[in-house]
Amino acid sequence: MTKILVVSGHTDLQRNSFANKIILSRLEEIMPEAEYVYLDTEYPGWKFDVEREQDRLRSADVIVMQFPFFWYGVPSLMHKWMEEVFVHGFSHGSKGKALVGKKLVISFTSGAPEEMYQAGGLQGYPVEDFLIPLKQFAKACGMIWAGYVYSGGLSYASRHDDAKLQAMKEKALAHADKAAGLVKSL
Ligand SMILES: Cc1cc2nc3c(=O)[nH]c(=O)nc-3n(C[C@H](O)[C@H](O)[C@H](O)COP(=O)(O)O)c2cc1C
Repeated sequence: MTKILVVSGHTDLQRNSFANKIILSRLEEIMPEAEYVYLDTEYPGWKFDVEREQDRLRSADVIVMQFPFFWYGVPSLMHKWMEEVFVHGFSHGSKGKALVGKKLVISFTSGAPEEMYQAGGLQGYPVEDFLIPLKQFAKACGMIWAGYVYSGGLSYASRHDDAKLQAMKEKALAHADKAAGLVKSL
C-alpha cells in the first residue's frame, strides 16, 4: 500500500488558522490511512527530532506539504524543517539517496485571490512561478514533482464576515477533496 505522509507547516494551526485547519481535518477524515505531522504542535519550540522526521520521510512513498503561503513561500517553521531535516547525506549529496523516487505534492492556500496571481495582477506573477524553489528542492532530492493544489482568497481579513467565512469553509473543504484526489491518483 502507498504510504502517505502529510506535513503541516502552519505556524499556529490551533489558534490562528481557518483554512489549513479545515483542510487538514478533512484530509484526516477522507485519508485516514495517511500519517499526519503537525510541526507546530509536535515541536512548539521548533526543535525538531531530526532522526524521527527523516524516518518518517524515509518510510513514505508520497509526501504532502500542506501550508499557508507566507511571503510567497513556505512558513518559517516549515522552512526550518526543510533546512534541518533535508540535509546532505540524507536527501542529497553522493550518499544522500533516502528520498529518491518519492512523490512530492504541494498543497497550499493564499490570502490573495487566485486572479491577483498573474502578470500585471497585484501579486505580479502566476502563482506557479513562486513554486520554482520547491520544484528544484524536489529535483535536488531526487523526488518526483507530483503537482500542487492551490486555493486563494482564504484571507484572515475575512474571518469576521459570516458569509465570507462560509464561502471560505466550502473552498477549504473542496481543496482537501482535490488534494486527496491527487494523492490517491499517484
Ligand atoms: C505572515 C503572513 C504572510 C502572508 N503572506 C502572504 C503572501 O505572500 N501571499 C498571500 O496571498 N497571502 C499571504 N498571507 C495570507 C495567508 O496565506 C492566508 O491567511 C492563509 O493562507 C490562510 O490560511 P489559514 O487560515 O490556515 O491561516 C500571509 C499571511 C501571514 C500571516
